[in-house]
Amino acid sequence: MQPKIVLFDSGIGGITILREVVSLNPHLNFLYIADSLYLPYGDKSAEFIKNRCLQLTEFAIKQQASAVIMACNSATACALSYVRNIYPNLPILGVEPALKPAANLTKNGIIGVLATNATLKSKRFADLVERYASNHQIISCACTGLAEQIESGDLNSTKTKLMLQQFSAPLIQQNCDVIVLGCTHYPFITPLLRKIFPDNVQIIDTGIAVAKYLRSLFPVTKINTNHNKVHFMSSLNATELSELLPNLWKYDFICSDLPNL
Ligand code: DGL
Repeated sequence: MQPKIVLFDSGIGGITILREVVSLNPHLNFLYIADSLYLPYGDKSAEFIKNRCLQLTEFAIKQQASAVIMACNSATACALSYVRNIYPNLPILGVEPALKPAANLTKNGIIGVLATNATLKSKRFADLVERYASNHQIISCACTGLAEQIESGDLNSTKTKLMLQQFSAPLIQQNCDVIVLGCTHYPFITPLLRKIFPDNVQIIDTGIAVAKYLRSLFPVTKINTNHNKVHFMSSLNATELSELLPNLWKYDFICSDLPNL
């Protein structure tokens, strides 16, 4: 039996992590939980996020998870240490704004971060800045409402473009030359951001690092190039999710409702 890896996010955002993780780890089985009932995490209290992430991790354990990935920056920022302390023997991976690569890439030392309120005000984010970018200028923007806009499948409308222009304006004015996408929903709108930021600005996200780390935990034992069907669950509405998925996910999938936790 192949190890089962359970990923979760407040909705579809973590699929940007899932696609990297699956493409580098076709030898593993994946269950993805879209916790869309509680979207957005980014505007909720740290206490709420901790409790919800603990519930989802306990559900993953009941599903025989060999590892859990919090495919959400807000969840990682608020709940990763808390849940790891409760389940120290379960590998629990998180995702964080890519400040270390950004600090290596920037030429002028000015880094922009687009993320949720929960991530930006967390101690974990402050520690990350201190550790990797204390000699750099960080211009951050809490993109309230953007994850919901992406979640609705609206990746290209005028409303989405206007929101992005508004959130990006201070980062352009301050001359950031690297933009860190610190929310897993945002890579879905990289093509729009690409048109808003000048060509010399680099836009980076996190998925590949997590995928590599997972592969180091579960090395390939036998070559398997056939991707298994990913099982998606939604805490809100599996039918709606299965209608959205063909635009976001290129492999086979099955989709069902997450039971009440
Ligand atoms: N995808 C989540 C993240 O990476 C945030 C979306 C939300 O606010 O729920 O932070």
